[in-house]
Amino acid sequence: MATIFITGSTDGLGRAAAQSLLDQGHRVVLHARSADRAAALGGLTSRAKGLVIGDLRSAAETRSIADQVNAIGRMDAVIHNAGVYTRPSRGATPEGHAETLAINTLAPFILTALIARPARLIYLSSGLHRGGEGSLDDLDWTKRAWNAATAYAESKLHVVALAYALARRWPNVLCNAVDPGWVRTKMGGAGAPVDIDTGQRTQTWLAVSEDPAALVSGRYWHHLEQQEPAREATDPRFQDRLIGKLSELTGIELPEV
Ligand SMILES: NC(=O)c1ccc[n+]([C@@H]2O[C@H](COP(=O)([O-])OP(=O)(O)OC[C@H]3O[C@@H](n4cnc5c(N)ncnc54)[C@H](OP(=O)(O)O)[C@@H]3O)[C@@H](O)[C@H]2O)c1
Repeated sequence: MATIFITGSTDGLGRAAAQSLLDQGHRVVLHARSADRAAALGGLTSRAKGLVIGDLRSAAETRSIADQVNAIGRMDAVIHNAGVYTRPSRGATPEGHAETLAINTLAPFILTALIARPARLIYLSSGLHRGGEGSLDDLDWTKRAWNAATAYAESKLHVVALAYALARRWPNVLCNAVDPGWVRTKMGGAGAPVDIDTGQRTQTWLAVSEDPAALVSGRYWHHLEQQEPAREATDPRFQDRLIGKLSELTGIELPEV
């Protein structure tokens, strides 16, 4: 049985993934943004191996999440699931970053660098990542007028590129990105066509399955099938530039190997 850490497990796809993995007999480490939100986990908490608390808007709290996970022990897999969709404005995190960038891109980057390296890493992206191609010049939205849809698309491109970059750098870790489809959650809304069980299936399969089809790295998945992501995500020059910029913004180096 594996131990899996899932960010954003209080609701939506993260909660459904936690439920599914616990039902399969795996050990799950849950995550909530605050003690108040942890209350929403209800009976899941007593079944879990652990619960870590921290708001991913904050780099300091995100570092603390990594410390809390490492104190619990080594994870077999991490599902970087937490995310936000279209924010009404850029906002500013405690470190001054755009909130969408901080939660959707910087937090998974920080956690990837600081959590003891697991055997498998899974990043929740979106088909909308294809609209995020173009430029790395204004990652933190300090020059452009705010565009929530573009900011979300860029953040989801970043995590696909990160998964592909890590697949190159860390050959002993299986690193993949997942588009769950448009799913009926708080984010997806009640009119979304995909049910939550279907929406969580690919990331939980990638986290624990011994099926040879799941034991691959540097792939982009949708409903248990590989797809081709946006060209930039697979471009090593783009990946290296992105990682350089994320290192600058966070002050954290991602080990080369
Ligand atoms: N639903 C879709 O149609 C869809 C489509 C494509 C991709 N995705 C991706 O799938 C992932 C999960 O989406 P979802 O639909 O399950 O979203 P959701 O229902 O809104 O749940 C998001 C989860 O992330 C947590 N979270 C958000 N901001 C946080 C922060 N600052 N600190 C800590 N936790 C935070 C939320 O905590 P709270 O419960 O406290 O808010 C919640 O547990 C996201 O990365 C999303 O981009 C979703």
